[in-house]
Amino acid sequence: MIRVRFVSADGLAVEEVEGADGDSLLRLAQAHGQPLEGTCEGAMACSTCHVIVAPEDFGRLPPASEEEEDMLDLAAGATRTSRLSCQITLTSDLEGLTVRVPAEARDMRGR
Ligand code: FES
Repeated sequence: MIRVRFVSADGLAVEEVEGADGDSLLRLAQAHGQPLEGTCEGAMACSTCHVIVAPEDFGRLPPASEEEEDMLDLAAGATRTSRLSCQITLTSDLEGLTVRVPAEARDMRGR
């Protein structure tokens, strides 16, 4: 099993979950109640599955495709280490991956 940590937008809640090799990060997040919409279900047409990868883990991910980069340009609150979770497949190389759910995806802070 591969451990993944989801950090809430405010950084206060951390949930550690386990996924299997080949699982989609988006599906794993949704299975554990993380507030990622993933409206287009992995078709790279929505960017609501956007997560912010911990900077120290970012280099372990395979690089984003051009299409993914284009969608990230449109994602609310995207940062240098943002990725679309629907494009990330778990492998043993990603053991201990930490990602943050962006505040904009939760829309709960009234900013
Ligand atoms: Fe729509 Fe990832 S689910 S881009």
